[in-house]
Amino acid sequence: LTVAEYYPGHVSSAAGQPRVELAAELTAALGGNVGPWTRVLEEQPWTDPFRAIRANADAERELTAAVNAADLPAWLKQADQWVQSMHVPGHEPSAAERILWTAWRAFDTRLTRALARAREPARLPVQGGVLAFVDALNLCLVVDFRFIRDLPSLRVIDAIVAPRTVFDVLDAFLERPHETRTEIKGMLQSSHRLVWHRDVLVHIDRRAEPRVFGPSIDTLHLAEVLLSRYTFSPPENQPKRVLELGTGSGMLSASVLRNLPGVERLTGVEVDFASAVCTYRNWEINTLDRPDALERRAALVLGPFRPDLLAGSYDLVICNPPYIPEVPDAAAADLREGRRGAVAGLELLEQLLAISHLLVAPGGSLLLLVSSVTPRALVAAPDGFAAEWPWGDDGISVHFEVEDVFSRPAWLKRLVEAGGVSHSGAYYQHQLHAVWLTRTETR
Ligand SMILES: C[S@@+](CC[C@H](N)C(=O)[O-])C[C@H]1O[C@@H](n2cnc3c(N)ncnc32)[C@H](O)[C@@H]1O
Repeated sequence: LTVAEYYPGHVSSAAGQPRVELAAELTAALGGNVGPWTRVLEEQPWTDPFRAIRANADAERELTAAVNAADLPAWLKQADQWVQSMHVPGHEPSAAERILWTAWRAFDTRLTRALARAREPARLPVQGGVLAFVDALNLCLVVDFRFIRDLPSLRVIDAIVAPRTVFDVLDAFLERPHETRTEIKGMLQSSHRLVWHRDVLVHIDRRAEPRVFGPSIDTLHLAEVLLSRYTFSPPENQPKRVLELGTGSGMLSASVLRNLPGVERLTGVEVDFASAVCTYRNWEINTLDRPDALERRAALVLGPFRPDLLAGSYDLVICNPPYIPEVPDAAAADLREGRRGAVAGLELLEQLLAISHLLVAPGGSLLLLVSSVTPRALVAAPDGFAAEWPWGDDGISVHFEVEDVFSRPAWLKRLVEAGGVSHSGAYYQHQLHAVWLTRTETR
């Protein structure tokens, strides 16, 4: 299965019938009525016009043929130049041109504003690169930005189809022509890592924050699952009280703050100091244009998750926990030295599942991400909960790229022997599983 098949982009219509994200608006636009398409893109910034186009092969062919491009990724690499032609006096754009123009404008405006918001808190350089994930994670756009006064101008320098890691850009680097390689190289040499997904921009300073986790492909998949369940519901049907355990870079919780207006209170817990600082900065970047969102709606706890302190009734608990079983001697050393890893050790997951009935309100949910390396029995639904595995039994295959594991060959060997990690060409791969645990008890 491809990632596209996992994310049909279903949205519930008023009649309760599922429909694909923006599909009806795109069809109307192709028929000449571009108004609804433009309106939704303006009013719902998390909606993804490229997803709608790529999900409809006929529409993609029709649109890109109208602008002489092979496909949407190819057009995106020239879109910044192409839009200039739309401003030529006397040019009467066709419906296809207007659709592509509004799609590019939606993308360009959102990312431009996000970078402008991030500039000061992240101390961004005048020029740099962002990885923008669109088409339900089927497309990673490598975007070059250059600030001219307060606003950056954007240019897509590469479009990586079906990325299996956030840094598939490294592979692209080897295959691309010289000019593209030079541009990607500049981006990779910067200590600023910027990742954008559904109107949320996350910044990590790799020099100052070398140990902050991700955002990795895991984080992005979890963000997509989370949003596809809630963003299209009216705010009154969204969870009111949300808890994220282990916020890392803050991408998931920033997405909750930015994209789920129905959330009244978000609590984040992070044990690692640098990660907590990074989380708070990314919360700021993504709420600067939402007055009060941070002060009124969010609280960040710096310290280890303490079930006794945090028990309460949350409508949604999100956790992308460390999910790799440790080798016993390393685990003992970590414990002795008070280390809690970002990826290794199952302690947080075990604690969380043991007290899930105290954390999750009746009818509420726990959203977890685990991997084929995580013992299945550990993630069995606790009493009073029903489990749903949205990616089926097989999960989603992604590259396994955990440096801590690669630096200890015995650990890697153990994971391979247990069947959780396997070879795939020059890489190791594993399978990710999102798990929804919904509390079925009514009280
Ligand atoms: C796999 S990372 C996920 C980060 C982020 N949620 C994401 O998806 O990108 C796990 C995070 O949990 C934090 N963590 C691990 N054990 C913890 C604990 N007992 N209490 C609070 N945070 C913890 C780690 O520092 C790390 O930032």
